[in-house]
Amino acid sequence: MKKVFVNGYGSIGSRITSFLKDDPEITVIGVGKYSPDEKVELANSRGLDVFVPEKKLDDFKDFKVKGTIESALDDCDLVIDAAPGGHGFKNKKSLYEPRNIPAIYQGGEARLGTDEAVSDLLFNSRSNYALALGKTHVMQGSCNVTGMGRILEPLRDKFGDRLVRFDVTLVRRWADIEQTEKKLSDTIEMSEKPHHGDDVKTYFGKDAPLFVRAIKVPTRQMHLHIMDIRFKDVAPKPSEIHEVFTNEFGVATLWSAKGTKDVRDYAQNMGFNFTDTNMIHIHANMTTSIMDTVQMMYSDDQTGIVIPENHMLMQAMLFGKSYEQAFTHTESIFNMMEKKQKLQEHFAKKD
Ligand SMILES: NC(=O)c1ccc[n+]([C@@H]2O[C@H](COP(=O)([O-])OP(=O)(O)OC[C@H]3O[C@@H](n4cnc5c(N)ncnc54)[C@H](OP(=O)(O)O)[C@@H]3O)[C@@H](O)[C@H]2O)c1
Repeated sequence: MKKVFVNGYGSIGSRITSFLKDDPEITVIGVGKYSPDEKVELANSRGLDVFVPEKKLDDFKDFKVKGTIESALDDCDLVIDAAPGGHGFKNKKSLYEPRNIPAIYQGGEARLGTDEAVSDLLFNSRSNYALALGKTHVMQGSCNVTGMGRILEPLRDKFGDRLVRFDVTLVRRWADIEQTEKKLSDTIEMSEKPHHGDDVKTYFGKDAPLFVRAIKVPTRQMHLHIMDIRFKDVAPKPSEIHEVFTNEFGVATLWSAKGTKDVRDYAQNMGFNFTDTNMIHIHANMTTSIMDTVQMMYSDDQTGIVIPENHMLMQAMLFGKSYEQAFTHTESIFNMMEKKQKLQEHFAKKD
């Protein structure tokens, strides 16, 4: 039994912990909290021990806390850092490296190759699972970066050098469902030099013909990627594209969702954990094939998609499992195949 500490209990940390509690190979030591607020009680009510920074102990005197983060780390096999972007690097330097504890970081950390990068590996289970074996510090790709990998890798496997270029517009959500304090601004914000394309190229190849633009829109209901795929010759038919994803992990093909909220509402009605689908959804009714180009759109469950990825990564780092072993164990906890099937049946093609 390995002991894991989750440092941060926000959108990502709370989801990761919830699944880890169902994992018979893991003991969750507890979670790290930095602000004395209602989420301490929430974590306690879910049976989790809460740890806080030593220097903030006083701030938490009215809350039930088990101890300090520093002490929790003294008997820990791996940390999953779920801090706001940039804090993972600081934690690495002040907490994890001095104690020689392996750690997983999230996608908001600085880009690979910069002074503040937490790792030289950005993980995407579909692309580079084996590279995480034996690593001590690894960054999980962000939600958009993870989602793109689930489309690009299978396309490359199938069509190889028939592919000429990928042009992607990321339509990013403004805030997460739980971030009720964060107001949605009535604007479409343009992102200069988005990092996502360069991040994807760390696993897809630095010279990959991938061109990414990004905008942010006032919604909490997922990201949408609009992708044009150019071929050397006549582009495949939409049905040939969809076929590529029939057995892909974490990719559902939907025909009748009018928008991203339909998918989220269905996940909520079905009682999926945290209303997440944990996957991307190809909106098959939007796929077209025109001369040398396939146009497609897929939505990306922003908070959910990276959770099974963290679980896969943790198994590579903690147990050195093969991809197949890790995949089988992750599937037994996340039931992705069943969720995919339910989504596909509910949003099936209507005659
Ligand atoms: N949200 C998404 O959709 C999404 C998707 C993929 C990747 N990510 C990435 O995941 C990371 C976390 O994002 P999030 O959305 O979960 O953020 P979040 O909801 O704002 O939660 C951040 C959590 O980190 C805690 N925290 C504050 N300072 C910390 C520190 N120094 N060390 C450790 N934890 C600290 C906060 O504690 P208090 O509340 O107690 O202050 C809070 O519980 C970021 O890198 C983000 O880019 C997010």
